[in-house]
Amino acid sequence: MILFLPGFFLFIVIFCIFVRIYLSWPTRWCRSEKCLIGKTAVITGANTGLGYETALDFAKRGAKVILACRNPQRAKEACQKIIEETDNPNISTKIVDFSSFYSVRAFARELTQTEDRLDILVNNAGIAFADDTKSLDGHDLTMQVNYYSHFLLTHLLIELMRKSGDPSRIVNVSSIIASHCLRFHLDNLDEFRGYMKTYEHSKLCLNMFTKELAKRLETTNITAYSLHPGAIKTEIMRQTKGMVKTLFQLIVALFYKSVKEGIQTIIYCSMEKNIEQFSGCHFDNCRKVADYWKARNLEVCSKLWKITEDIVNLQETEKIRL
Ligand SMILES: NC(=O)c1ccc[n+]([C@@H]2O[C@H](COP(=O)([O-])OP(=O)(O)OC[C@H]3O[C@@H](n4cnc5c(N)ncnc54)[C@H](OP(=O)(O)O)[C@@H]3O)[C@@H](O)[C@H]2O)c1
Repeated sequence: MILFLPGFFLFIVIFCIFVRIYLSWPTRWCRSEKCLIGKTAVITGANTGLGYETALDFAKRGAKVILACRNPQRAKEACQKIIEETDNPNISTKIVDFSSFYSVRAFARELTQTEDRLDILVNNAGIAFADDTKSLDGHDLTMQVNYYSHFLLTHLLIELMRKSGDPSRIVNVSSIIASHCLRFHLDNLDEFRGYMKTYEHSKLCLNMFTKELAKRLETTNITAYSLHPGAIKTEIMRQTKGMVKTLFQLIVALFYKSVKEGIQTIIYCSMEKNIEQFSGCHFDNCRKVADYWKARNLEVCSKLWKITEDIVNLQETEKIRL
């Protein structure tokens, strides 16, 4: 036993070092020096984590940035911090709760009334590991926040993006976890399948949405991308409890990458030159990668689109036609 213990600890230490190197070694940095003066960006869930850091990056480049957040106090604090750090006064907040279609519609209405252009929409807000909770509209909470509401928001903002006439981009922050979703079916999207499986589903839907969206926007100046940001130290695990929380905190502290590393692919998809030809594709670590198996089936993507149109109750005039 005495001889066994040091060997065991040595094994754990070596294992941890390998995993750490594996997770952090290949980070590719987006080298784009694009100036965003005159451009407008909306980032959902921008008061913390990846959304906040993305907003900070856009603000440094001179963009007008609208932080779309649900908590007024957290939104205000984030906005003030960004203005102080960047000296860019064109940063503002708008309140939206993605667990309510009413709130999404009110947010989009206000935005289209106050803005005359939208160049970058980053659909970033998300929750993971939520219980079997229903949204205000009676849908699975994770599905509504991560997928349905962003599907709706994108539809409601397309006209504003078209209006500016310049090329604009939609960036959907997905997750590699979508690749674990092996038993995807369209029958009951709102079925709670366990906190991990439901999260997988919501992110796979986001990838499939991106594919179909790109197809429907082919004749426009608007392109769309989905991406995995990496395993990043943020508050995304906040819903976990007890031992699971402690375990996750340990894993995150030991192995996850910094938020600055995490936004690289978001920045890449938002502004890198010459990626328009890859509209609809999935990105990881600042490069195009093969999409997850189900998202490659265009027929399923198109069926999902139609089902989601009904779920979010899209009006005929709001639909993006092929
Ligand atoms: N971190 C990772 O390792 C990782 C990996 C793969 C994918 N992602 C994805 O990256 C995105 C950003 O996550 P993060 O890691 O930055 O997590 P985070 O720090 O927890 O940030 C999530 C953001 O979403 C907002 N949000 C949650 N529910 C909302 C709602 N109902 N209405 C409006 N906003 C809401 C949060 O607002 P509050 O602060 O008010 O709660 C927060 O601003 C998510 O889509 C996540 O799935 C993250």
